[in-house]
Amino acid sequence: MALFILVGTRAVGGHAAAGVESENGPAKIAEGTIDPEVWGAAYPAQYESWKSTAEPTPVGKSRYKRGFDTDGIIYNKIDEYPYLALLLKGWGYGVEFTEPRGHVYMVRDQLEVEPARLKAGGSCLSCKTPYAPALYGKMGSDYFSKPFEEVRSKIPAKDQLLGVACADCHQSGDLSLKISRGFTLGKALQALGKDQAAFSEQDKRSLVCAQCHVTYSIPKDQAMKSTDVVFPWSGGKWGDVSIENIIENIRSNPAYGEWTQSVTGFKLGFVRHPEFELFSRNSPHWQQGLSCADCHMPASESNGETISDHRIMSPLKNDLKACAQCHEEDAETLREKVFAIQDEVASLLIRNGYATARVAKLFELTHGAQAEGIIIDNALYDQAKDAYEEAFYRIMFIQNENSTGFHNPPETLRVLGDAKRYAAQADSFLRQALAAAKVEVPETVDLELEKYLNNRGEKKLQFAPEMEIKAPKGSR
Ligand code: HEC
Ligand code: HEC
Ligand code: HEC
Ligand code: HEC
Repeated sequence: MALFILVGTRAVGGHAAAGVESENGPAKIAEGTIDPEVWGAAYPAQYESWKSTAEPTPVGKSRYKRGFDTDGIIYNKIDEYPYLALLLKGWGYGVEFTEPRGHVYMVRDQLEVEPARLKAGGSCLSCKTPYAPALYGKMGSDYFSKPFEEVRSKIPAKDQLLGVACADCHQSGDLSLKISRGFTLGKALQALGKDQAAFSEQDKRSLVCAQCHVTYSIPKDQAMKSTDVVFPWSGGKWGDVSIENIIENIRSNPAYGEWTQSVTGFKLGFVRHPEFELFSRNSPHWQQGLSCADCHMPASESNGETISDHRIMSPLKNDLKACAQCHEEDAETLREKVFAIQDEVASLLIRNGYATARVAKLFELTHGAQAEGIIIDNALYDQAKDAYEEAFYRIMFIQNENSTGFHNPPETLRVLGDAKRYAAQADSFLRQALAAAKVEVPETVDLELEKYLNNRGEKKLQFAPEMEIKAPKGSR
């Protein structure tokens, strides 16, 4: 491959100070200011670029991420990967699981999504509103357990739809990067033995994103009320939070059982958007010292000023501008390389997603037999259940990570390889148990997907009416 800048240090990016210094030093924003308009008055270029995450993204530039393209459709992962309808049946994700879109929409999308997705309560605001830390500070454990709308109503009316804002990532005084979510990410980093003061500026260019682009669990009490938002990272290290760590945390803690899978009746946890975990576990680009911002916030021109692009989106949708600082292939060649990685990942994911769904159906059959009084070998059953859960969480890890494997191709293939093995083991243990009990098992399992897919159709969402919408800037 061709590279004309060798990084290998943490000196990439770093146009931070540009635009901040005026003749009188950095513009002063009063401590605690959340209103982005106030920040915007001092930093108009970044403000405009942040606001433009409202714009739909161009069609046809990305193969797998079509969050909110100019065709106006919000794609649902269940339509793209139909076995999810079966695997996630039992809670909100199985009804609606939309692809992500621009940052300004994050709270609005919670109001438009299937309401069952918000059953966890105020917890759901933790990676959405910039008021989350203050709400938690004021409400304590009620913040997690009270109904979503009750907690959201405590946000000042004007900001009830406001998503990630300047104050989430920046210190008001000198505009340096900061972690505003001590109650989630801060705690998790402590558990990794990392003191926040030890992080470099380059680390923070990933950590601001890791406030939200990570997996989390919402532990439940006896009454299934949410008690916290926890990153299941214990046992991991900085740069090494593996799917094995995550599964160990989820499976060893009954409070992390957040829902019951309809087909199997198993109480399970979940793995959500683990972008930071996958990327930071020794990915090729992490080893080269890159951060999230290096690829998702490239230097861009705005009114003659060079700024970090705050219109955060898929790098494929702004023609891989970020990559050109190191890769000298032309954008189309590099795009094809990304597609090649993603095609291999998607193919493995889909095959093993279906394989895992077939095991779920075999459990349904097994449970049916047990209900008729047929005795199933306990040891085989337990081994099958264990292997099934190992496969399920691995599929969810890659499925819900939003780069379709690009953030860390070798690790993705490793995890999917293990998922495949576990699904095959589970299948074999169950078939042995069923054969021993003389239960007839079809060679090919019918998933009966039509039973699980509800009739959603295409979902068209409107642009944010109160935001000024410009034509998509294809040329940016
Ligand atoms: C406060 C939480 C939060 C922070 C901080 C955050 N994100 Fe996001 N991000 C989200 C949510 C939520 C969505 C999905 C929004 C939706 O679909 O409504 C999202 C969506 C995205 C998307 C998809 C955009 C699209 O057009 O489809 C990208 C890319 C992204 N984020 C990258 C980043 C990067 C890089 C950082 C750090 C510089 C970051 N995010 C910081 C919560 C956050
Ligand atoms: C080496 C460049 C690179 C780095 C570093 C990187 N990403 Fe990405 N990211 C990509 C590419 C390429 C995609 C795939 C986009 C596509 O398929 O359209 C992607 C996809 C995403 C998406 C989904 C985008 C969408 O449109 O739905 C999110 C969210 C995201 N990255 C967040 C992050 C976060 C958070 C980090 C840091 C933990 C990070 N990325 C680090 C290049 C990078
Ligand atoms: C999701 C996190 C995030 C949000 C939200 C965010 N920024 Fe930034 N911002 C960054 C990152 C990362 C950098 C690059 C900093 C660096 O290189 O050290 C940056 C850089 C800047 C800079 C330095 C100059 C430049 O462009 O590199 C300014 C000024 C700035 N942001 C203003 C704002 C304003 C104003 C808002 C709100 C309208 C905002 N930012 C919202 C993450 C964010
Ligand atoms: C700061 C420099 C830098 C940036 C920015 C960067 N890369 Fe890379 N990239 C590298 C280096 C260095 C390697 C080689 C890593 C290795 O071999 O371990 C690499 C490897 C790769 C590879 C695998 C090797 C190959 O050529 O098949 C792909 C694909 C890739 N990068 C795509 C991208 C894309 C897409 C972007 C932008 C979204 C991007 N990179 C941004 C430095 C960078």
